[in-house]
Amino acid sequence: MRTRDRLRIAIQKSGRLSGPSRQLLAGAGLRFGDDGDQLFQPGRDLPVDLLLVRDDDIPGLIAEGVADLGVVGRNVLEEQALERMDGIGPGPFRSLRELGFGRCRLSLAVPADWDWPGPSRLQGLRIATSYPRLLERWLRERGIVARAVKLSGSVEIAPRLGTADAICDLVSTGATLAANRLREVERVLSSQAVLAAPARPFGDARDGLAAMLLRRLAATSRERV
Ligand code: PRP
Ligand code: ZN
Ligand code: MG
Repeated sequence: MRTRDRLRIAIQKSGRLSGPSRQLLAGAGLRFGDDGDQLFQPGRDLPVDLLLVRDDDIPGLIAEGVADLGVVGRNVLEEQALERMDGIGPGPFRSLRELGFGRCRLSLAVPADWDWPGPSRLQGLRIATSYPRLLERWLRERGIVARAVKLSGSVEIAPRLGTADAICDLVSTGATLAANRLREVERVLSSQAVLAAPARPFGDARDGLAAMLLRRLAATSRERV
């Protein structure tokens, strides 16, 4: 592996996590220069650079060593860890710290007029989701055989379109479920933004830079209490 003396942090370019991610890094005293480039912003005072990407790409960028750390939802990180693990052994990622924003839950929801005797109600059904690995693990743990239908967005519309019977998607306020006449019945995962890293240390200057960032984040979160 190539050694590097600068740390590269990936955050969401635009979306729910991008504002709080920028604030988090600013609060830790990191400043980035624009450099005319929207997607890569070099650190101004410290050897810590910023990469602005789609949140769903962050685990892959870390796995490939393109980014060193990333701010991403636990839901995305765990789904992609399962995707890359295929079985036993430690996962490819570590979550260094929970960040306290981007809170949501990955939940199962069914048409509002269904009875809900329990998870066995899902036996043999089709469930639309963007998180098939997390859903399949949850089903397997309960001995339920059901089919995950992967959709990358607008999952809540699937029951009305007849492409699935139920859904498993992120819920924050619950407004999207209500608008689609769906009822949340089971929680699969509680999520929030985390600071993600590869499972193994970098073995160069990046370890010290990551440790410095963690110390600063711990200090700023203490100030806020
Ligand atoms: C997310 C998520 C849900 C919705 C939940 O979608 O996938 O659909 O927000 O939020 P609520 O409970 O407050 O309504 P997003 O708007 O990010 O779009 P996407 O599903 O197309 O990614
Ligand atoms: Zn996304
Ligand atoms: Mg959605």
